[in-house]
Amino acid sequence: MRVFCSSAKYSAEPSRRRVKRLQVEVVAQMGKDSDFLGRDILSIRDYKRDQLERLFHSVEDLEKSPNSLDGLLKGDLAALLFFEPSTRTYSSFQIAASTLGMQVTGFASPAGSSVSKGETLHDTIRMFEGYGADCFVIRHPMPGAARYAAETTDKPVINAGDGSREHPTQAMIDLFAIRKAFGKLDGLKVGILGDLKYGRTASSLAYGLSNYDVEMTFIAPEALQMRPEVQHFLKQKGITSKSEKDLRSVVSELDVLYVTRIQKERIPDPTEFEKVKGMYQVNLETLKEAKPSLKVLHPLPRVDELAAELDATNFADYFVQAAAGLPLRMVLMSLVLGDGS
Ligand code: CP
Repeated sequence: MRVFCSSAKYSAEPSRRRVKRLQVEVVAQMGKDSDFLGRDILSIRDYKRDQLERLFHSVEDLEKSPNSLDGLLKGDLAALLFFEPSTRTYSSFQIAASTLGMQVTGFASPAGSSVSKGETLHDTIRMFEGYGADCFVIRHPMPGAARYAAETTDKPVINAGDGSREHPTQAMIDLFAIRKAFGKLDGLKVGILGDLKYGRTASSLAYGLSNYDVEMTFIAPEALQMRPEVQHFLKQKGITSKSEKDLRSVVSELDVLYVTRIQKERIPDPTEFEKVKGMYQVNLETLKEAKPSLKVLHPLPRVDELAAELDATNFADYFVQAAAGLPLRMVLMSLVLGDGS
């Protein structure tokens, strides 16, 4: 049995919202795990530590028995609707869905769909719903697009990145990768470097880390510092964070350095981009004072902010991090869609 829910506060179609709510109540009455089953995955803020830990244990189980979920969702259809380019997120969801036995439909960029003719997000979702989609994975340049999509359909929606706002599954991967590298998250000092204003992975990671006892340092030029609403959220949760302009002044303290690229495509004024471009680069020289145990992560793609000379060092964890996207997204889809029973 498939069930659905949404945490959205508003709806263009209230009846669909009611359906999702009712179905979640049914799950609760059946004693099934309603933390993931049938849920929209819209924001990492919706997930607490115990839920994340359960997810991570399941990913560890899958890594130990890599074929254990093969074919679990045979007969289901995943619609991957990517209104923005992607390498990792699109491909890993596609491979995850296929390995779970699902059929996959949709598009990897709007150029290959009628979105390029002006079709709306609403109509696009309704079309794939009509073709029998059991879940939607959506990337869109507009903040809030995934939440809007969740109000349009009673099928689960997974946010694969909405503008500069959120990338919840990337945050799950990032937390999992740090946890794997250190065997824990508590007690770590995590630096998040780069475009923290427009980079959705940076804010989602900060939200995710707020479930753990960590110290966060936001390292960025002033124009790209972490958005006030993220800082406010952390303050309300009692999480220690500080802001710095220069990596060198803090690098020796860090256990983890999470590097992000400048989001050129999201900076509204090209002259603003010119001012900040090339303002930071992580290389062997900038890590001279770093702990030997420092792990450097990056959601990728990288441009010029992370030197390739680090790839062969013990600092580099970003390709391991990216590879974790596949098992994590497999587990997530299996938890959201259940086994179809
Ligand atoms: N990390 C990430 O979201 O990469 P893609 O844009 O390639 O999906």
